[in-house]
Amino acid sequence: MHNNTPIPKVPGIIYGGDYNPEQWPESVWLEDVQLMREAGVNLVSIAIFSWSKLQPAEDHYCFEWLDRLMDLLHENEIYANLATATASPPPWMSRYPDLAAVDEDGRSYCHGSRQHYSPSSPTYRRFAAALVRRLAERYRAHPALAAWHINNEYGCHISACHSEVSARAFRVWLKQRYKTLDSLNAAWNTAFWSQIYYSWEDIQTPRKVPTFANPTQLLDFRRFSSDALLDLYRMEKEILREYTPQLPVTTNLMGKFKPLDYWAWAKELDFVSWDSYPDFLPGANPCHNAAEGHDLTRSLGGGRPYVLMEHVTSHVHWRSINPGKLPGMIRLYGLQAIARGGDGAMYFQWRQSLAGAEQFHGSVLQHGVPAGEGRVFREVAGLGADLKKLKAVTGTEIRSRVGIVMDWNSWWALEDPGKPAPFDYAESLAAVHRYFYERNIAVDFVEPGADFGKYDLLIAPQLYLLDLTDAQGLASYVEAGGRLLTTCFSGIVDSQAHVVPGGYPAALRQVLGLWVEEWFPLAESECRDLKWLDGSGVIEGRDWSEVIHLDSAGALADFTDGHLAGMPAVTRNNFGKGQAFYIGTVLRDQSLARVLDQVCSGLNLSPIVSAPDGVEVSLRESADHSFLFLLNHNQEPVEVVLGEVSGQDLLSGKSLQDRCLLPAFGVIVLGF
Ligand code: GAL
Repeated sequence: MHNNTPIPKVPGIIYGGDYNPEQWPESVWLEDVQLMREAGVNLVSIAIFSWSKLQPAEDHYCFEWLDRLMDLLHENEIYANLATATASPPPWMSRYPDLAAVDEDGRSYCHGSRQHYSPSSPTYRRFAAALVRRLAERYRAHPALAAWHINNEYGCHISACHSEVSARAFRVWLKQRYKTLDSLNAAWNTAFWSQIYYSWEDIQTPRKVPTFANPTQLLDFRRFSSDALLDLYRMEKEILREYTPQLPVTTNLMGKFKPLDYWAWAKELDFVSWDSYPDFLPGANPCHNAAEGHDLTRSLGGGRPYVLMEHVTSHVHWRSINPGKLPGMIRLYGLQAIARGGDGAMYFQWRQSLAGAEQFHGSVLQHGVPAGEGRVFREVAGLGADLKKLKAVTGTEIRSRVGIVMDWNSWWALEDPGKPAPFDYAESLAAVHRYFYERNIAVDFVEPGADFGKYDLLIAPQLYLLDLTDAQGLASYVEAGGRLLTTCFSGIVDSQAHVVPGGYPAALRQVLGLWVEEWFPLAESECRDLKWLDGSGVIEGRDWSEVIHLDSAGALADFTDGHLAGMPAVTRNNFGKGQAFYIGTVLRDQSLARVLDQVCSGLNLSPIVSAPDGVEVSLRESADHSFLFLLNHNQEPVEVVLGEVSGQDLLSGKSLQDRCLLPAFGVIVLGF
């Protein structure tokens, strides 16, 4: 069920948020919907944490309040993104001992917060399925129902479980993967440290062990844990499909969230949605952080418009210091989601709770501020009015010619213990993404096995684990004329986390035209100078250095100091019709930019408008329309030279050409 509009029933840009009215007397609901209308809200996510209210006892359900809520929403022309309410099981369910998740030390989680269930608990599965079936039966034809929101942020708190039922499920998963114990023993190389298994029953989840655990066991457990939660999602989706095959189903993802392989997850979502909570502390770079998450989410959905399912109007409550958004930033960040390919922007949450774990989390309606008044509400309502003007943008796409190769299996394996140095995969991706973000060059994330045909450039930072077929795919891409950049400690192990023999990085040796004999990781305080052989200066390598031998590649920059002086550090190999670049150290900021400038040269990737620093530029397109978003993240006004581009600003209605002025945090959406 894929089309280019995330939720076909909701016309225009989707706008609203999490709405938890079960915390309030029904008299408050009337005020809520009145204000939602005023704010231009057309969708609310409801019942996300309502299980204990919907099912007070094992054999007793209570839907009447939800019936009234659904009717009220419909009367007010607000659609429901109805949750299946399975994110937080009611306390009574803990009477079943298999419900609780267990940590690696064997300690059980208790109810009293949320998400305390074991993903492999048969009790959880049984009750979740029964609840979902009842919800689907009851609301399948309700006119307010527009989409299903399964569970909530799967794995956010509990992403892996070591209970007895989880160990059993892990064994079943392993049997499906390996068929025989012999092949499991071979994959896990259990001959090392006397770990050979002669019975499936002896296999455990990787609980607390004295020292390094078996790396392939760890990797398989991560794969299993992602799959176990995905299986729960699928179970719910299949039930919903029986009743409402025409309605889209999603669950809210969390951007670069390590525990779940979102490439696998996204394939099961009718539209992809995510929750964005960048840090607003000075120096934290929230605009880049949010932009990276938007780009990943859009890419997970194959480029189709996504929904920003949650973000905050002001401040969260769960970091140690939680700065609020400054005036103008609600609009700016809401429109950023649309600029980068989203068709919806939703908040957590509508009305601020007076009590409970999130009582100090920002909301649309805030404690102590008369309802419908105050700066936050005014900005939210102002954005609602703006979004109505952007209907024509829905369904349009971002066209990227650059792809960042990203892989969860590689992330897991790279950061599991026992490596020559610690690696931060999320930061490696962010560093590359930041380069393109700062230059307003559109970029997608891609999986290693994807079809790379549309990309002129692929960057694969620290792709440590690489399936051999995927390695072949990268080589074929270059051979056919593509440009590839990869960095140290890529292509080292195969999908079983076994080193590929034949000289590091054997899986990429031919395409890179080199091999690496030895690694010399650096202390945090150390750095190595790298000298460009064309005389264009020196850059700084951190964290890692290595002995590179060139087969067919040529050096672009050499190490200059220590025992590696004069040996290659940055290389380029002509392979088929394309080129493959390699960096044998870790580069930050300006040093990374220097290499990326060279890698990008000649590709003509510049955006159609070149904007001053701090102005984000993004282009959404369809066959016959283009929408240029200009977002000023600066606290002062800036002028943008439009050059050849002219058109009408959809937000102000003004015709613009030559140049335009963006106020502090201002946004222009130029249609042409
Ligand atoms: C999300 C979650 C919401 C709420 C919010 C607070 O992770 O889905 O339910 O807890 O965070 O920031």
